[in-house]
Amino acid sequence: MSRLRFLGHNAWEVQTEKGTFLIDPFLTGNPVAVTNVESLSPEWIFVSHGHGDHLGDTLSIACRTNATVVTMVELGEWLKKRGVANVVGMNLGGEWEGAFGNVRMVPALHSSSTPDGEYAGSPCGWLFTLLCGTRIYFACDTALSAEMALLGKEPLDVAVLPIGGHYTMGPEEALRAVKMLQPKVAIPCHYNTWPVIAQDDEKWASAVERETTTRVHRLAPGESFSLDGLAKM
Ligand code: NI
Ligand code: MN
Repeated sequence: MSRLRFLGHNAWEVQTEKGTFLIDPFLTGNPVAVTNVESLSPEWIFVSHGHGDHLGDTLSIACRTNATVVTMVELGEWLKKRGVANVVGMNLGGEWEGAFGNVRMVPALHSSSTPDGEYAGSPCGWLFTLLCGTRIYFACDTALSAEMALLGKEPLDVAVLPIGGHYTMGPEEALRAVKMLQPKVAIPCHYNTWPVIAQDDEKWASAVERETTTRVHRLAPGESFSLDGLAKM
């Protein structure tokens, strides 16, 4: 039993038989979040970059739960200096094995610095292969990138893509990303959190399903999506 829960913006919780992990747990100050940060108890936290809407509550959750934080080396050092005991600092192209399965740190076209202005290394996305076989790509904050065509040459069950524009790719480029990635399911995120990234997700879903064989699954904050059986579809 594996499931993906949307916590709002680009914050996600993935529950697997072998433990739970978070991606970019931005809850405090997130205008669309409906989850109490104290209710989260992950084994691992994956942080794509240092911007506040992604780093979010990582420090407080990691210090409270002793979760292992997996992130870019420079951002990992910054977290260690602030009391996070378990940090895995890696870099683009690297892979890491956890009880949940395997993760690869993949490129993202964006910027990254810490809330106090320190250099935080490159931003990244994540490609997970869960023990159940499901492969899920979190693009995180990125422009449309030629790297996505490379990822599309591997089997992909789910692609979680920003569609908000302004800070990341918008709907038209995210549609092009789906065509390059060719996932079975695409899930949009990083939109409608603030007016500057307001988008019509229904219109985007229609365009994707008209122009590709990918199914779009839209989640409201708090809603979940089952990851079981996708690898066998
Ligand atoms: Ni960002
Ligand atoms: Mn962002």
